[in-house]
Amino acid sequence: MKKMINIALPKGRLGQKAYEMFEKAGYECPSIHEENRKLIFENEEKGVRYFWVKPSDVVIYVERGAADIGIAGKDIILEYSPDIYELCDLGIGKCRMAVAAKKDFYDDYGKTLRVATKFPNIAKKYYKAQSREIDIIKLNGSIELAPILGLSDVIVDIVETGKTLYENDLEPKETIVPISARLVANKVSYKFKNQEISELCDRVCAELVE
Ligand code: PRP
Repeated sequence: MKKMINIALPKGRLGQKAYEMFEKAGYECPSIHEENRKLIFENEEKGVRYFWVKPSDVVIYVERGAADIGIAGKDIILEYSPDIYELCDLGIGKCRMAVAAKKDFYDDYGKTLRVATKFPNIAKKYYKAQSREIDIIKLNGSIELAPILGLSDVIVDIVETGKTLYENDLEPKETIVPISARLVANKVSYKFKNQEISELCDRVCAELVE
């Protein structure tokens, strides 16, 4: 008997795009298109069960085995370092993690740099490699406000089009790392549902080269 694969999708645009890739690869689940507030959708025949979770929670579900596989941004993977397998780069959700500041920002190396971010671990690692002393200000959103209001000197945040920075008179100063969405798997599931997960991974990844 084919084993069911539990798939954690990130709620939002990225999750929709990822689901379309799964659909094209033959893992459709028509009930997902119904307009309702259900969070779990299943297609027994195809052996898949999808559920929508907060994007930053995908790795938690996968690490603990509540989901066998999931779609997670590289930003979340780098920030939380979950004990999971990264199976492939889906080539969607492309952006970059960057340092940004006001256009006239001048970096005084003699001073501790105040860094506002949603990604304290990524920021710490980046500045540690430069032996730069920093003060992390952990925020949960609208990070761009911090340098404008003088709460921080710089921000470490995701830049996609650069529009948010531009419209707030900020500019990217350094790129830390490119980001994209990854197909990730629980380590135990990968062993016990290997045939099913490998087949799904092959089929989804086959679309990438087309
Ligand atoms: C992200 C990020 C920037 C914006 C970048 O925010 O934090 O604010 O997208 O996109 P852009 O370069 O195309 O303008 P998100 O939408 O995740 O909301 P948040 O700021 O509340 O976290």
